[in-house]
Amino acid sequence: MLSTSAPAATSLSLQSAVASPALLAIRDLQVDYMTPQGPVRAVNGVSFDIKPGEVFGLAGESGSGKSTIAHALMRILPPPAVISGGSVLFDGDDVLDMGLEELEQFRWRSVSMVFQSAMNALNPVLTVGDQIKDVLHTHQPWLTKQQANARAAELLDIVGIEKTRLSAYPHQLSGGMRQRVVIAIALALKPQLMIMDEPTTALDVVVQKDILQQIETLKDELGFSILFITHDLSLMVEFSDRIAIMYAGEIVELAAAGELFNNPLHPYTRGLMNSFPALTGPKEVLTGIPGSPPDMRQPPPGCRFHPRCDRTMSHCSLTHTQLREVAPGHLVACHLY
Ligand SMILES: Nc1ncnc2c1ncn2[C@@H]1O[C@H](COP(=O)(O)OP(=O)(O)OP(=O)(O)O)[C@@H](O)[C@H]1O
Ligand SMILES: [Mg+2]
Repeated sequence: MLSTSAPAATSLSLQSAVASPALLAIRDLQVDYMTPQGPVRAVNGVSFDIKPGEVFGLAGESGSGKSTIAHALMRILPPPAVISGGSVLFDGDDVLDMGLEELEQFRWRSVSMVFQSAMNALNPVLTVGDQIKDVLHTHQPWLTKQQANARAAELLDIVGIEKTRLSAYPHQLSGGMRQRVVIAIALALKPQLMIMDEPTTALDVVVQKDILQQIETLKDELGFSILFITHDLSLMVEFSDRIAIMYAGEIVELAAAGELFNNPLHPYTRGLMNSFPALTGPKEVLTGIPGSPPDMRQPPPGCRFHPRCDRTMSHCSLTHTQLREVAPGHLVACHLY
């Protein structure tokens, strides 16, 4: 465990004391990108839990630090990124303390990831079957050829693709099918947590929903948890149990999906909700949020959102905000509450 100065720990320890045990517990995570111009803190004191079987959504504008968190917790952050503080516990194990061998077991077996634009990450010169079997052979070398073939066929079946497609090359499949193959690979080792970073953004809406619905069914059958990252708040509300909203490297609000949708508290969350069409009901004029996220090399003092906030008060530019539990399970980092 690295050194911590837990700003968000008070309310979250309260939260975890009453909630069921966490599969993943992130506390006061800090990640810096060591640029030639100096360190850029991309993740600044982020804390949250994911429970077994839970879909936990992470939302926020581009550059808010979502992927950085995902890569940090899987320990696949490339340089110049450095985890400079906090702790990540997975099923009680200290992920930031794992050695290479332990990490190899942890990645894909415990936690797997469907990357942003992953459907283009398949190897164009290998068949779908060979790519699935590659993962199986690497992590389960004891499987016979027949067993690996059978498991690859089973995995395709799980994501709704006919096993005859085992011999297909990626270019012979539609975008939606390629994405299903990537999900099959992520499920190959029966992980306890699947990270999905914008898993379906490149696909049309109907295919997106179809794939997400299927993942939800699989999750219920197989019992894994999901960290779901997307820009699309309506998809996120539909498919997540709880949602954390990020702004400029910090969580500004965390609540159950329905609660966040019906009762958003942070002015940033309210703005985000207004930037997306409603799931149901009449079409409204979308207002969005004026301005743009801060330059992370020089985030504004006090509340990082105050320059864009429509409810700013005099001390918002002076005092940093902390996540506080304002109703059971509903946390917000805003001086209004
Ligand atoms: N290679 C890098 N070098 C320097 N800074 C970086 C680098 N990659 C990311 N950052 C910084 O980290 C911040 C968070 O980036 P990250 O990719 O985690 O955001 P994100 O929320 O996933 O965005 P998106 O929605 O566009 O995927 C960025 O605003 C940027 O300041
Ligand atoms: Mg990202």
